[in-house]
Amino acid sequence: MKVSVIGAGNVGASTCYLMIAKEICSQVVLLDINRSIAQGKAIDMMQASITLGTKTDIKTTHDYKDIENSDIVVITAGIPRKEGMSREDLLHINIKIMEEVVLNIKKFAPNSIIIVVSNPLDIMNYTAFKLSGFSKNRVIGMGGILDSARMAYAISKRVDKTKDIKACVIGTHSEYMVPLLSHSFVYNKAVKDIFDKKTCDEIVQETKNGGAQIVKFLQTSAYYAPAASICTLVEAIFNDTKSLLPCSVWLEGEYSASGVSIGVPVVVGRNGIEKIFDLPLSKEEDEKFQESVNSLRDSLVIVDEYLQNTNLN
Ligand code: NAI
Ligand code: 2OP
Repeated sequence: MKVSVIGAGNVGASTCYLMIAKEICSQVVLLDINRSIAQGKAIDMMQASITLGTKTDIKTTHDYKDIENSDIVVITAGIPRKEGMSREDLLHINIKIMEEVVLNIKKFAPNSIIIVVSNPLDIMNYTAFKLSGFSKNRVIGMGGILDSARMAYAISKRVDKTKDIKACVIGTHSEYMVPLLSHSFVYNKAVKDIFDKKTCDEIVQETKNGGAQIVKFLQTSAYYAPAASICTLVEAIFNDTKSLLPCSVWLEGEYSASGVSIGVPVVVGRNGIEKIFDLPLSKEEDEKFQESVNSLRDSLVIVDEYLQNTNLN
């Protein structure tokens, strides 16, 4: 099994390291425009793998030909927002990066499954879906697995030692995410039935603030938990686990939404997204989900204009 990771920054490199340490695949290709960074990190990882006794091969490159025959391509390339840059400016830059990356995936790894990680996640997944022309089961946005881990962490701080916690966050990978208290559980009991309203509100708030809290300490965004979330997805595909995971996917009427990519629970197996799972939402949860869908609309107009102007639609 071969996985290519585009972008050897914090998330891309951490993902490679975890895949090597867990021997999830036989070969990893790490591609970055800055090959020197990719090379330095890869040598470090290969030396770690000798100590760990693991056998995954790692190759670094800036040539897309090397991603040929990849089963999965993970996209983590992108640039963060800089001072004086509007969200729109950032979006334009990241769409261009996505265009370059996705057109190369289409050319060199046309049978792969794409996992999009770059932000703004749901918009980038929409862009990758449109540019690739791949079927929607093969273009998966990773955001909800991470947000659900953050929710589980917020819950875990409030219970005594147990680790049997399942959390579920749907919607956008942004401040409009929708943590579902009725579909998150400690020992099969819904979180909304365990805690009082104030505690439930705190859990939701901590989940939404999970990424920003780390940025405040690190001055950059998280990478260990994102890497673990990406690996969970890669393992679900390679091991055909049929796991239920919240991922961003192109919707065609499911959850009353169309023409967007957004996080919903999906069954993941060897074919990527094998089923969009129909979770019953309360009226309030559904309203929040629709708000989340609507928060994407302005950015989607920008993407559509870009795609039309470049004649790629
Ligand atoms: P980073 O800045 O450490 O790494 C980005 C890498 O992309 C750099 O090494 C850069 O050289 C490379 N790059 C830029 N343009 C490229 C191109 N055209 N081709 C190939 N490589 C290129 O950033 P980090 O922390 O690794 O984050 C990566 C992305 O993932 C960001 O967009 C970030 O917001 C997003 N992210 C998403 C998460 C999620 O849950 N979906 C979680 C964490 C981060
Ligand atoms: C995170 O949630 C920035 O998407 C990234 O940590």
